[in-house]
Amino acid sequence: MPSPGLAAVCSLRLHPRKPAVRQHLEATTPMPIMPCSDELMGQAESLVRSVFRGMTPIERFSFIAIRHPNSMAGRLLMFLAGVKDKVAFDVYVDEANQVLGTTGLYRYNRDADEAVWVAWFCVAPKARGRDVGQALMDHTVARARKAGFHRIRLYTSTDPNEAAAQRLYEKNGFKEIGRKKGLFVTTIFREKTL
Ligand SMILES: CC(C)(COP(=O)(O)OP(=O)(O)OC[C@H]1O[C@@H](n2cnc3c(N)ncnc32)[C@H](O)[C@@H]1OP(=O)(O)O)[C@@H](O)C(=O)NCCC(=O)NCCS
Repeated sequence: MPSPGLAAVCSLRLHPRKPAVRQHLEATTPMPIMPCSDELMGQAESLVRSVFRGMTPIERFSFIAIRHPNSMAGRLLMFLAGVKDKVAFDVYVDEANQVLGTTGLYRYNRDADEAVWVAWFCVAPKARGRDVGQALMDHTVARARKAGFHRIRLYTSTDPNEAAAQRLYEKNGFKEIGRKKGLFVTTIFREKTL
């Protein structure tokens, strides 16, 4: 975890478009993406709730399952959502231990042997446009690959809030594999072969 002493170095991260600086940072600073600790879970949940305003009721309660996957409530929620298990839930933190982004991996019962799914992939509005999302994406894909999966899937939507994500997903090889029309937005399913 970056310490306050690294603040000066970490603040260079705010100029990510300079490749030399980026390379230097990668070589000298610890990766600020880590499994979400109990202490950071509240911040992570607040960020996700503020970014994804149109959550379904089950999505709204999903943090109970993320926090306590083996509890009665956690298992009930996963059962209702058709989720087999949580594989990971990680956060990107800055030098002041503020959560700037989140990403997760989980499996559905229906395709558990085939693919892992991305969960709650987002970056705080104040931190956008500085490669945090790309770093989280690289991390998520690498984690899925390391866990032995051959496919990674996700769902997103035509909500204007998620428009930037479409470009990021396309750029990272997540091909559209289906759409489902909803009342207000259309859900878009994407997949990447690992
Ligand atoms: C999508 C999101 C995670 C991107 O985070 P970010 O830290 O701003 O992204 P980065 O700075 O790493 O940019 C990575 C790529 O994303 C795309 N991107 C980022 N912001 C964009 C924007 N405003 N418009 C279009 N594309 C954008 C680009 O392809 C960019 O790469 P490029 O600059 O080389 O073209 C962020 O906008 C977000 O949290 N959006 C709301 C939540 C969401 O939609 N989550 C996914 C849906 S399930």
